Amino acid sequence: MHILPDLFIQNIGQLVTVAGASQRPKILDGMNELGIIENGAVVIRGGNFIDIGTTRRLEKKYPRKGTKIIDAAGKVVLPGFVDCHTHAIFGGDRAGEFVRRIQGETYQEILKKGGGILSTVRNTRKLNTRNLAEISGKYLDTMLLYGTTTVEIKSGYGLDMKSELKILKAIRQVKKTHPIDIVATFLGAHVIPPEYRKAPNTYINLLCAMLPKVKSYATFCDAFCDEGAFSSEQSERILKTAKALGFGVKIHTNEFKDIGGVSLAIQLNAISADHLDNIKQRDIVRLKKSNIICVLLPGVPFFLMKDIYAPARKMIENGVPVALATDFNPGTCPSENMQMIITLACLKMGMTPAQAINAATINAAHAIGTAHRVGSIEAGKQADMIILDIQDYHHVPYYFGMNHVETTIKKGRVVVENKQLMDSPY
Ligand code: NIG
Ligand code: FE
Repeated sequence: MHILPDLFIQNIGQLVTVAGASQRPKILDGMNELGIIENGAVVIRGGNFIDIGTTRRLEKKYPRKGTKIIDAAGKVVLPGFVDCHTHAIFGGDRAGEFVRRIQGETYQEILKKGGGILSTVRNTRKLNTRNLAEISGKYLDTMLLYGTTTVEIKSGYGLDMKSELKILKAIRQVKKTHPIDIVATFLGAHVIPPEYRKAPNTYINLLCAMLPKVKSYATFCDAFCDEGAFSSEQSERILKTAKALGFGVKIHTNEFKDIGGVSLAIQLNAISADHLDNIKQRDIVRLKKSNIICVLLPGVPFFLMKDIYAPARKMIENGVPVALATDFNPGTCPSENMQMIITLACLKMGMTPAQAINAATINAAHAIGTAHRVGSIEAGKQADMIILDIQDYHHVPYYFGMNHVETTIKKGRVVVENKQLMDSPY
């Protein structure tokens, strides 16, 4: 009768559960609901949440002899962030291009000259599986420190059979060793590699032939359907082939230009359409009738110094489910910090802090098919949560650019215990 918990977290100032949307993503008014419990408690056993409620109720219900107890008085608890769109596996960095961009060259001009994604491809092709797994593991460590407990990682800096497979194998290796949950996506259709510049369709054929060989390594297949990357017809060929093989479909689209990617996403019943900075009202209305999650990445226009952000408020008003992610990559968003993304979502896209938190947790989990396990604090779900050293959830975006995470708990285990001043006079 008396279940002994492994971990009991009590006196939580604001327990933000984000509960009630494990089956379907949050939309409309639901996006402003956070399921907050004041003076809350969380009971964990066997890596899962087994009970959630007020401290008063739960401390009577559970014996705690030998149980690890964490007191979170005056603090905020959230589900771990789900970063549902990243490219967190690549060689080198692009700090040199950052300086060129500040001086006026655009991202696409640099790509045309053989830089950008292509320079990262050169650096990634040089590395072996072990190097790549190590590099990626370090990025994931930072994510845990900043409160991300589930991440999607795309391949796409290899762009040939051998290199793409090497990247996917490295992702599999990190998946085995790192506490973060990883969902892998194949993005062979990132750009056309230089050796196929003159014969793009040969590369599309090659990609279609790669798909069965990478199937066991990736849940989703993605394509960059935009100016300077793949046309809507080329993307269609790849994604259709992938869908027929059983991949879930994702699409990078409308980041620079509208070339029909939204129609393609709808036609293929994609799980998500990502970026969408340049989307027309007509397409927002069409998206409403689909089940597609719009994954918005405000770190990208911010880092590219552009003033065009996805119309998040219009999407939400129209009943479209919205998620947030970093897009962590060396060219357009070299930051793993989901807290900063929440700030940008509020300041640049007019989302409320509550909408942004829902978008960065449960809706993001839906965007990678993991909402039944993660994304909210509910009995039966995996015990992924973060304790933040703030008094109110509004402080997440308000005190911006900071790391509020004090403790990260992954599958019921404390994996981050943060920052103590050695000699505070207070
Ligand atoms: O999501 N848009 C395509 N891919 C990445 C950028 C990758 C890079 O610049 O290295 C993105 O923005
Ligand atoms: Fe991306």
